[in-house]
Amino acid sequence: MLAIIGGTGLTQLDNLEITKHLIVRTPYGEPSQPLIFGKIAGREVIFLARHGNGHTIPPHQVNYRANIWALHLQGVTKIAAVATVGGIDATLSPGMIAMPHQIIDYTYARKNTFFDGVDFPVKHIDFTEPYSAQLRAQWQQAATAIGEQLVDHGVYATTQGPRLETAAEIDRLARDGATMVGMTGMPEAALARELDISYAAICPIANHAAGRGDSLHSIQYEVLVENLNQTMSRVRKIIVQLVKQNET
Ligand code: HPA
Repeated sequence: MLAIIGGTGLTQLDNLEITKHLIVRTPYGEPSQPLIFGKIAGREVIFLARHGNGHTIPPHQVNYRANIWALHLQGVTKIAAVATVGGIDATLSPGMIAMPHQIIDYTYARKNTFFDGVDFPVKHIDFTEPYSAQLRAQWQQAATAIGEQLVDHGVYATTQGPRLETAAEIDRLARDGATMVGMTGMPEAALARELDISYAAICPIANHAAGRGDSLHSIQYEVLVENLNQTMSRVRKIIVQLVKQNET
């Protein structure tokens, strides 16, 4: 079963024929919202808005473990995620959509594992390639099929938030090799891997990161949201195509 996790700017899926809403309780608490079951072009999919229905949960307070566990309980084996970012690399401008191939995690104080020695024994998963190669190929295939461009590489820096970064922090991320920055990439990707769920994210670029491009001196959140709204209609089309071409 395929699940879509939507982020900022994507709290609902149009084209989704909703069949049920399911409240799920997990050993880790409740997910961000009841899971939304539905069909797109006859294919079943589960949708979950990471920040809750009305975008009320900030990135550092998302219950990532409950979200991933709730999907796992429903038999989800693939998670196609959407996570909004700021572009660090000069080639990544607002309006583009990128698909990172790597992650650097700068978050702290987030519950970031199921294998904490309490419910499960301690275990160190392999995370060399954090995203599923197969699901990345499917995202790319979906984008190409509808004539959309997806930048097929990038290093996603996950910051703690909820504030945006300083210009010096972005310079540091760039020196580390990050090309885009967001607040929700981790621990979501690692938790999915812990449960053997294939996971890959696409990232609409909402703004130039702090100190770059037209964000040289400040970032207007309203402008960021406006950029995002425009890009999200294209993201939705890619999602519809991804679901249509999904076999299981
Ligand atoms: N930084 C962190 N997260 C973000 C940004 C940003 O500039 N834009 C959208 N999400």
